[in-house]
Amino acid sequence: MTALDPPRRLLMGPGPITADPRVLQAMSKQLVGQFDPWMTAAMNDTMALYRQVFRTANEQTFLVDGTSRAGIEAALVSLIEPGDRVLVPVFGRFGHLLAEISERCRAEVHTIEVPWGEVFEPDAVEAAVRDVRPKVLAIVQGDTSTTMCQPLADIGEICRRHDVLLYCDATASIGGNEFETDAWGLDIATAGLQKCLGGPSGSAPITISPRAADLINARKHVEAGIRDDSDTDVGTRIASNYFDLAQVMDYWGPRRLNHHTEATTMLYGAHECARLLVEEGLDTAIARHELHGRAMLAGVRGLGLEVFGDVEHKMHNVVAVEIPDGVDGDRVRAELLDDFGIEIGTSFGPLHGRVWRIGTMGYNARSEAVLTTLDALEKVLGRGGGVAAAQEVYA
Ligand SMILES: Cc1ncc(COP(=O)(O)O)c(C=O)c1O
Repeated sequence: MTALDPPRRLLMGPGPITADPRVLQAMSKQLVGQFDPWMTAAMNDTMALYRQVFRTANEQTFLVDGTSRAGIEAALVSLIEPGDRVLVPVFGRFGHLLAEISERCRAEVHTIEVPWGEVFEPDAVEAAVRDVRPKVLAIVQGDTSTTMCQPLADIGEICRRHDVLLYCDATASIGGNEFETDAWGLDIATAGLQKCLGGPSGSAPITISPRAADLINARKHVEAGIRDDSDTDVGTRIASNYFDLAQVMDYWGPRRLNHHTEATTMLYGAHECARLLVEEGLDTAIARHELHGRAMLAGVRGLGLEVFGDVEHKMHNVVAVEIPDGVDGDRVRAELLDDFGIEIGTSFGPLHGRVWRIGTMGYNARSEAVLTTLDALEKVLGRGGGVAAAQEVYA
């Protein structure tokens, strides 16, 4: 058996995207034991970096080992007790995911929906909050399936006013769009590395407000074999061991209570992703995503293609393009991949085969990536005008 030798690709889909070489380099470093003082200091550094990424003072800011979905499950299973009311405003596939995970946590789940391609008005969310009186409101910021980015400041304010815990999935949006954990009053937010953070999937940064942390710690049941006399079982036990944030907080905190074995290589990668972002400056990184997103938008329009959804509320880092009548969307994607080494995506459910999703995020939010992709699209579609339109944005 020969060693894996992956082909060179330019990943211009909705994520994963081509990883920043600095992240890959960080991930090639040797392991250190999980309780080595160097390692615990690296864990503390990682927490401090992600406080900057999430724009929060939350002490409880760390990594859940696993893909972004692991962060979502950890947040919801640790917050929700069976029978709790959870409200999920759904505007795409990942809203449905939040509802389905909440159901598995045996919550009484209520959803409200807008058509794919739209976002919620705050009044509609407040009316549902009044009606349902949920313990938790769970919402996605940027739903990759539709490319829409839900404004959250008003929803945070509504949740505070009605004493509702607010959970947000920022996987697709953080780093490329404004995101304010504390200013918007979010209780838990989770993310992933494989979009605007320029890393691979496999680590889910999370931040937890003091009031959410108190609520979770009020359900702490430390597992047998590592508990001591100070541990008393309180509250309803969290239904997952791996995603039991009460125990995971003790692993990342001063107690360093053994739980899982930290995924050291992923931590190296996550640390470098955050360092890249903080070095660049969050506002500069968001402006970079806005610029290259705008260039890609101009480029696809220059090619004569229609853009799906409410463009005013589109995430900066991904665009959904209507596949023109008579064009075989899968053939175009296959030719881009086979002939040019460029990957773009389609979408899910009602949008499967109806749109292409093209990302400009993380390491690929740069002009060469945008222009190369548009050039290849011109050749595959036999149309012009894409590169020139993007170049006008850069002029
Ligand atoms: C908004 C959003 N949430 C959650 C996920 C799930 O992430 P993962 O595949 O890393 O578990 C994705 C992946 O595309 C996403 O875009």
